[in-house]
Amino acid sequence: MSSIVPVTLLFSDGVAHRLDVPCGKKIVEAASEAGLNLLTDCSNGQCGTCTAQLLSGTVEMEDYDTAVLPDEDRDAGTVLPCVCRVTGPCAVELPYESAEALAEEPAPIDGEVVAVSRIASETMRLEISIPESIQFEPGQYVRIHPAGTDFHRSYSMANLPGSNHLEFFVRLVPDGSFSNWLNGAKAGDKVELSVPHGTFFLRDEERPRLFVAGGTGVAPFLSMLRSMNGKSQSQPTTVLIGARTPGHLFALDELKALREAVPHVQVRLAVEQDANAECHEGYATDLISGLGLDPATRVYLCGPPPMVEAGRKAAEAAGLPKQDVLCERFA
Ligand code: FES
Repeated sequence: MSSIVPVTLLFSDGVAHRLDVPCGKKIVEAASEAGLNLLTDCSNGQCGTCTAQLLSGTVEMEDYDTAVLPDEDRDAGTVLPCVCRVTGPCAVELPYESAEALAEEPAPIDGEVVAVSRIASETMRLEISIPESIQFEPGQYVRIHPAGTDFHRSYSMANLPGSNHLEFFVRLVPDGSFSNWLNGAKAGDKVELSVPHGTFFLRDEERPRLFVAGGTGVAPFLSMLRSMNGKSQSQPTTVLIGARTPGHLFALDELKALREAVPHVQVRLAVEQDANAECHEGYATDLISGLGLDPATRVYLCGPPPMVEAGRKAAEAAGLPKQDVLCERFA
């Protein structure tokens, strides 16, 4: 039987909660079982939303993105509670008030699979209907929990806000729980959805934009471009999309239609191998240095951590301030 140890969570308003936690349990899970919803976003060490400070004791951190938590910050005691397993008594300081953690997570939304279709190598389109339309910021995501399973995964909506028909793109992962479920999923299957989450959403501002997507990172940008359709826009928006081969690219017809409908949008494709006349051979982020970016550009990067890191560096090399670069990483 695993030993139980005290874990103290200290909030910025001075409120402290002491939990008795079995060794090996993640801090976020232990807090949730105690009725405290710590702030999280990706839940897998990729975004930094849960960043906290270890005041005493030690924890064991699972894999995380070192761009989010650099080694020197980790050495100074910064931790990511979503990937921290308790190994002994410890105290963690959270940079927000206890009321935020005590706010109840809204009830899940019942959904039903409408269609599942393969749209590219390794990628499926999943369509889900819900009883009532939901509002969200273009770029946000929901957690999808298939009924009868014990797992959930987060995916960005590709559709416009205000619909009860939601569209997602899912990369198939060999032996992945969600992928295995999706391979057998059919219309009528039940799912539960969280309310929309995330800080990676389209900012309402008149300035040049650069969207860079890797793989299924296209989804939030489709939602953003769809929301820009019909609005006047005088500033350019450049969309760079990267994939492994041309066969891994998808949603090209939708992107073409949006490029024609939304003013000042250009789309460029990059593939790592087997490039055709439409694609640059290499990474999408290779193209950033040749764009001659306006220093006022807002950059949105969505994809696997190495792509996001390469995009961050390219934006920095182009002279863009760090705070103008928004990142969404997924494993
Ligand atoms: S929620 Fe912990 S790093 Fe994203």
